Amino acid sequence: MQQQAANFVDHLHNESYEDRYLSQSITHHSMVYDSGREKISLNGLWNFGIDQYDTCVRARWFEEKYVDDEGRTNPMDFSFDEWEQIKVPSSWNTQKEKFFYYEGSAVYTRTFPYTFQDDERVFLKFGAVNYDAKIFLNKQYVGFHKGGSTPFYIEVTNDLKDSNRILVVANNTRKPSHVPNENTDWFNYGGVYRDVELIRLPQTFIKDFVISFVPGTQFSKIQVELLIDGSVLAGTAHLTIQELGISFPIEVVDGKGCAVIDANPELWSPDNPKLYDVAIAFSGDAISEKIGFREIRVDGTDILLNGSPIYLKGISAHEESVLNGKAVSDEEIMENFKLAKEMNCNYMRLAHYPHTEKAAKLADEMGIMLWEEIPVYWAIQFHNEATYRDAENQLTELIKRDRNRASVIIWSVGNENADTEARLTFMSSLAMKAKELDPTRLVSAACLLDHDNHIINDRLADYLDIIGANQYYGWYQTDFNNLIKLFENSRPSKPVVITEFGADAKAGYRGSVDEKGTEDCQLDIYQKQIDVLGQIPYVKGTSPWILYDFRCPRRLHPTIQNYYNTKGLLSEDKSYKKPAFYAMQEFYKNK
Ligand code: GCU
Repeated sequence: MQQQAANFVDHLHNESYEDRYLSQSITHHSMVYDSGREKISLNGLWNFGIDQYDTCVRARWFEEKYVDDEGRTNPMDFSFDEWEQIKVPSSWNTQKEKFFYYEGSAVYTRTFPYTFQDDERVFLKFGAVNYDAKIFLNKQYVGFHKGGSTPFYIEVTNDLKDSNRILVVANNTRKPSHVPNENTDWFNYGGVYRDVELIRLPQTFIKDFVISFVPGTQFSKIQVELLIDGSVLAGTAHLTIQELGISFPIEVVDGKGCAVIDANPELWSPDNPKLYDVAIAFSGDAISEKIGFREIRVDGTDILLNGSPIYLKGISAHEESVLNGKAVSDEEIMENFKLAKEMNCNYMRLAHYPHTEKAAKLADEMGIMLWEEIPVYWAIQFHNEATYRDAENQLTELIKRDRNRASVIIWSVGNENADTEARLTFMSSLAMKAKELDPTRLVSAACLLDHDNHIINDRLADYLDIIGANQYYGWYQTDFNNLIKLFENSRPSKPVVITEFGADAKAGYRGSVDEKGTEDCQLDIYQKQIDVLGQIPYVKGTSPWILYDFRCPRRLHPTIQNYYNTKGLLSEDKSYKKPAFYAMQEFYKNK
């Protein structure tokens, strides 16, 4: 260790200043089952500063020392309460023009009062921060989370006071070791873009709760698993499903409880999205949930929902709106599902990262099946152990967040990754992890095809229940006949879902079918795709790319794209439907 110079000033000369923070990681282990629980919102206007040089962490502004250790008065570099304000939740990019393209660290802070109740425990929850976040409460560092689309929780029972200051350093810098890395096909929004809440719990509480059909029991038995946190780790929990006449005691031993219960619920499906009020109580804690009961499995090349073969009539969607960026509103989520229903869809691919938990809850109510995905996208560092831990943690946080959502039928471990040894090890491990965490759902990935030999041939398929396949015949692959050849050459033993096909088209731009960028060209490609896909017996679904145009820094054609990926079936503000929307609507209507 190099001798520290006499004139060493930590916040100016210590370039390993971050190390002390990165080790205190917040992971899925700290998650608290919060669905149906009362929460105190910390949403609203926070003071905000763009912190390009990460000075808040370097100079430890969060300690609010206005005189440093050497007795020097700090220049007025920070004065939190005089800073400008930003709305939380939001993507900072959409809040002010000067923030639009900003990538880096930014500081959010606010004060809030807190009144303690007797004998309670309090958790701080962030719905998501892109990409990573350091959290400080009352001048104390309380944790670091990375992964830009999943929730994280910090127990703050002993950190809260009557009057509190919270400070968050969010950083959306794209990095090669991140998941996704620095190269994607979507806009990199930043910030605290989902809800920030406090959750009050009793000393002993239900930390996790999973309920589903017992696979293979002809929809006659449900299984419940409980995990308890606190001092009372033994006793009897009570599960109540009034509409089914179920009131069932579940023995809890060493903080764990599980039970199999006879039940014959109405089955959840897109045509009948039946949800039941489920209550679970233990040692003074109680949670209530709306649960749909259904079974999804594959049999040969069939996908079976509740024992019957289905076709996934889908569409892909990013989590974005022109107005709110990635911080989509409830109305915008509802609008997407309504548009999918109008297209006669029964299914959506929520690409390429976990969307807000509100999406799966709404899909439960509206009867739309979902593909949910972690952003193992393109060329991440498959050889990097830390990258794998990040990916596996994001997958686990997603599954623990949504595994009681009937609408979620598929967990996807990634998108369009070249078939190398390192990638196969990395993604097969993720696929097995998903299966281990949740044996009741299907695991997939959007794989690349072998266009040289015209065949579906990705070694990852051996680890998947459904082979997702992205293909752009008619657009990137010009010779459409090779799509027919590819399907003829392929002999998959499991269902294939065409997870992407499509073409760019500027909304309203008409012309020759041979002119790329016209709606006529897009429609022609859709029609040819539909004519082929509809004939392939082992193709059991598709989710064309994409519901509506979206911001994309890689798409610079000045008229057709203008920094948007225009493969949408609607314009970016969803006010205009392109002709190809109606082609899909007709195809699904007759499917
Ligand atoms: C890829 C990728 C998408 C991308 C699309 C495109 O398949 O999965 O994220 O936007 O193709 O090229 O438009």
